[in-house]
Amino acid sequence: MTVKDETRAFQQAKLRVEELRSQVAYHEHRYFVLDSPEIPDAEFDALMAELRDLEAAHPELITPDSPTQRVGGAPVETFGIVQHRVPLLSLANAFSADDVRAWFRRVCNMVERDRFTLVCEPKIDGLAVALVYEEGRLQTAATRGDGTRGENITQNVRTIRSIPAKLAAGAPPRFEVRGEIYMTKSGFEKLNYERGEAGLALFASPRNSAAGSVRQLDPKVTASRPLDAFLYQLGWHDDGAPRATHWETLQWLKSLGFKVNPNIARFDELDDVIAFCEQWTGKRDSLDYEIDGIVIKIDDLALQRQLGFVGREPRWAVAFKFPPTQATTKLLRIDVNVGRTGTLNPFAALEPVRIAGATVKLATLHNEDDIRRKDIRQGDTVIVQRAGDVIPQVVGPVVSKRTGKERRFSMPKRCPVCKTPVVRNPGEAAYYCPNRQCPAQRFRLLEHFVGRGAMDIEGIGESLAYLLLERGLVRDGGDLYSLKLRRDELIAIERMGEKSVDHLLASIEASKERPLAQVLVALGIRHVGGEVARGLAMHFGSIDALMGATAEQVMAIPGTGAKIADSVREFFALDENRALVEKLRAAGVNLRDDSGGAREGPLSGLTIVITGRLERLSRNEGEDLVKRHGGAIGSSVTKKTDYLVVGADPGSKAAKAEKLGVATLDEDAFIALLAERGVAVA
Ligand code: IVH
Repeated sequence: MTVKDETRAFQQAKLRVEELRSQVAYHEHRYFVLDSPEIPDAEFDALMAELRDLEAAHPELITPDSPTQRVGGAPVETFGIVQHRVPLLSLANAFSADDVRAWFRRVCNMVERDRFTLVCEPKIDGLAVALVYEEGRLQTAATRGDGTRGENITQNVRTIRSIPAKLAAGAPPRFEVRGEIYMTKSGFEKLNYERGEAGLALFASPRNSAAGSVRQLDPKVTASRPLDAFLYQLGWHDDGAPRATHWETLQWLKSLGFKVNPNIARFDELDDVIAFCEQWTGKRDSLDYEIDGIVIKIDDLALQRQLGFVGREPRWAVAFKFPPTQATTKLLRIDVNVGRTGTLNPFAALEPVRIAGATVKLATLHNEDDIRRKDIRQGDTVIVQRAGDVIPQVVGPVVSKRTGKERRFSMPKRCPVCKTPVVRNPGEAAYYCPNRQCPAQRFRLLEHFVGRGAMDIEGIGESLAYLLLERGLVRDGGDLYSLKLRRDELIAIERMGEKSVDHLLASIEASKERPLAQVLVALGIRHVGGEVARGLAMHFGSIDALMGATAEQVMAIPGTGAKIADSVREFFALDENRALVEKLRAAGVNLRDDSGGAREGPLSGLTIVITGRLERLSRNEGEDLVKRHGGAIGSSVTKKTDYLVVGADPGSKAAKAEKLGVATLDEDAFIALLAERGVAVA
């Protein structure tokens, strides 16, 4: 490089650094001060990473006010300011197992050891809080703020029930404990639903919702929000070091009455730490709160002190970050799909974007009201989210990226496939195409009929289902059973050879033996999924009994209300649906429940609801046991519920049970109850 080239490169780097700093500052303000981020965390991380890299290459560009030199944004002035006695720090990130190994090696070199114990904790995606206790009582609660000065949110934090106002004996006279305030996913969904109903703006995520709730000037508002907190660190303490390791500190915090995350683990081998990180990457969605990674900490506190800090990050800890599940992209168009019950489902056609290892081109949009509430327009830049196996969702628009050319969406007045005018039932958000003969409905219904959990017929995918209908070989699922008479036509249309046609026909034959519950699912009755169908099949014992049942008889089954009862009655009131049942009967499809319907047993008369994760039994096993011995399984807690069995990470049901005075059992007590009534658990 010539001197001239070098100056040019430096000038370019300088310009880019300035640009990045102003972008980072803008997004930090949106995130930390306004609680209204415009870009996903991963994009923000990428801006920060680019800035860090440039500063590393050109250290002369580093200034004390660079965002790399501090942790967060300035506190808002409306709350009092709390000066943190010891700053609240940030964590270095690791984006892969290799990054974790590199961190581990650096630490090993520094302390001249080749192994040490590590503690792993879920990284809660909430907001940091520092709690000062004096003489066992909560004195102040503060946000992180810029790391040295935070906002005084004591009055609001006092409303969070899991944060003790008074501690068990054994606490130091003065100390500070740190943790994360968060909102449960179920609480967030419920809150947003209620806000939507009330015409209020929706929160973008549980994190934003928690931050917004804690920063209310009126603590009553905070109190009404489903907030919770996990504590994970001792900030400072006046007298002596209470414990020698981080793990023991956490146990000690627990003993004082603090909520410590149950999913923490301690390992001596780095490989186990990495396996733990990978495990949680796959099962993060199973928790009712959001986590965005695993924090790995050195257990030995003396070793922590020896390692110290670099800038604002401790050397003794690192955050393994999960791959991002959100990204921004352009929403090209909003199209409408017709579902099997005729529901018009709007969906987003997106400019393809990579999220968590998959390319996303389509995302759901729920319904028209939701699109309105979130003000999503065609042509918008949108935040798209992908979680586990579920269909990607559009979270909301990035309003600042609007050009004015975006177009609002409204539902078509006619079905996009058969052109029948659409209808909307009062009280329901969805629009329907009322034409049961609509080709789109027939197609979706057939696809559903053969699907898993329904008749489970192998070998009929989307394209074959389409061809069968188009060529007039079948009109509904019932016609599949006469396809064996048209074997030659099948071979002709399919070009897939005799062998696969015979395989298909065998699979259709085998489906005649499916349990009644699966047949009920296959019929495609609105609101009748697997769980409800099992209840109906067991209770009525045969399709004929169900077809003859009154709405009241259907509603007598725990977990089924008027909505399901009406839908069942309406379904069997239609001639074409009765005709379908007759077609199935004529073909020899099983229409009886061979488990014998509701039976008498040692648990007769008991209604039990199970929530959360059980350890000894799976939830299905638990529910089957209850049903096989005459008990009823409810899907929600009501006054009629006798017991709520509470496993790990329960949702909102436990609170409901408490409110209604319904007895709760943990897994051991549940098993004891079964044993008491003579029901053995394998
Ligand atoms: S330890 C010096 N443990 O993540 C280390 N932090 O990106 C202090 N966080 O500021 C943090 N869960 O707000 C720690 N189990 C956990 C955490 C956790 C979430 C947050 C915390 C921290 C941020 C760093």
